[in-house]
Amino acid sequence: MTHIKVKVDGTTYEDDVEPRLLLAHYLRDRLGLTGTPIGCDTSNCGACTVDLDGASVKSCSVLAVQADGSEVTTVQGLAENGEWTALQRAFHEQHGLQCGYCTPGMLMAARDLLRENPHPKPNQVREALEGNLCRCTGYQNIVRAVLVASGEKIVQKVVEEVEA
Ligand code: FES
Ligand code: FES
Repeated sequence: MTHIKVKVDGTTYEDDVEPRLLLAHYLRDRLGLTGTPIGCDTSNCGACTVDLDGASVKSCSVLAVQADGSEVTTVQGLAENGEWTALQRAFHEQHGLQCGYCTPGMLMAARDLLRENPHPKPNQVREALEGNLCRCTGYQNIVRAVLVASGEKIVQKVVEEVEA
């Protein structure tokens, strides 16, 4: 067993974990943070994406021991003072989800993109989300939601580009 100390969604946890325990399983099974789903366990789908020290990672491809001393934000830590962020609101308002299984990972990956590039173009959104698979929406509404959340003045124009 290895002792780890990790801050998740603002709360610090200390645990003894097996060195082989995946971060995704630590979050879900030990901390009960089941808002981060597991869709494949093979690093393909992106559903398990979380923020690790300022970068989005697929938590099924990171060991819990690798998060020792780090700060993790999951989809459950996104809301600010109980209010959805602009990105969360945009997903809701633009119908950027159907079953919702991919949504936590989409939100975390999109958040990472907007932090790096606050005003992305449609193709940049698509590229940023290429590691996140959705079986439901065909991606149109997801891309549009990210563009709307970016708040760019020309957003209506790029929305029209997406829909063209
Ligand atoms: S569960 Fe991690 S990428 Fe699919
Ligand atoms: S909304 Fe169902 S998998 Fe994306």
